Amino acid sequence: MAIFMKDVELPNIIPKLLLEKHVNYLISYGMNKDDYTYCMTEHIRMSGIYWGLTALDLMGQLECTSKTEVLEFIEKCQNDCGGISGSINHDPHLLYTLSAVQILSMYDALDVIDVEKVVKYVKDRQQPNGSFTGDIWGEVDTRFSFCAVATLSLLGRLDAIDVNKAVKFVISCMNFDGGFGSKPGSESHAGLIYCCLGFLSITGHLHEVDADRLSWWLCERQLPSGGLNGRPEKLPDVCYSWWVLSSLAILGRLHWIDKKQLVDFVLACQDVETGGFSDRPGDMVDPFHTLFGLTAISLLNADVTLKPINPTYCMPQYIVDRLGLKPCRLN
Ligand code: FPP
Ligand code: ZN
Repeated sequence: MAIFMKDVELPNIIPKLLLEKHVNYLISYGMNKDDYTYCMTEHIRMSGIYWGLTALDLMGQLECTSKTEVLEFIEKCQNDCGGISGSINHDPHLLYTLSAVQILSMYDALDVIDVEKVVKYVKDRQQPNGSFTGDIWGEVDTRFSFCAVATLSLLGRLDAIDVNKAVKFVISCMNFDGGFGSKPGSESHAGLIYCCLGFLSITGHLHEVDADRLSWWLCERQLPSGGLNGRPEKLPDVCYSWWVLSSLAILGRLHWIDKKQLVDFVLACQDVETGGFSDRPGDMVDPFHTLFGLTAISLLNADVTLKPINPTYCMPQYIVDRLGLKPCRLN
């Protein structure tokens, strides 16, 4: 019996990275403040700015943005409790707290926020079993364990939480296939595998992972189109070029996937007219998939003009070096 596999066909090969178009796309995205999609994404603005600025920095164009405008925005998003929100007057959350700290690290401007209050906000999210809630409302997810340790390590304050308990919780989310889910017993998902490996890379506990078993699951995510999906039976998506590839890079097994086929898939997701990348060939582009298209090309060393990206922090490597951080990776 034939086995049906969900995939897409590449309509045409786009042979190169359209750098200039991507720069123009990202810069004009931030300037069209009345644009429908811009308005509809207000609640995730902080992460949107992080995606756009990281992408621009990888392309050597961070200076094209208004640093003053971004810093003023971040300052206004810090709440009295210390946490940072996605937009002004929104509720704080660990996701946007991490994005803000990543942006400030890129701009070397952490003094814009009250760092001690951020540390307290993150520390207050840790639960008795070591897990983290994303905000005061109590949702627990391994994404938030990653956000907590990434934020604190960028601030040089990992000592503020119980790291051993945090590690125990993340390890309790490991599955029989070597992967990780959002909580104990939840199915393996490439996005959450990135979060858990990023967490273990920062906390120095990668040795607790079954690297071969997990890398096998990860490289099975590559489909005949060359693209990667996030779970079995799902369509390929450019953002999984990040969640899967960065995980393989942390595990020291990036060469387990077919590089040429993946590069062809990622390049086929560029919009040759507007610039930017979409999730799959022919779909609408957005800043999220634009960042992850570029980070994939950077991780694969497929374009010499892009700066190297750090697989743990999803930040340009030179920033991670400047902060003196050395997240672990397996050989
Ligand atoms: C897929 O989500 C992705 C994840 C679950 C990982 C998200 C990771 C973070 C928010 C941590 C911070 C990230 C960085 C890069 C610093 P989805 O909801 O799109 O999953 P689906 O494809 O299954 O719908
Ligand atoms: Zn996606």
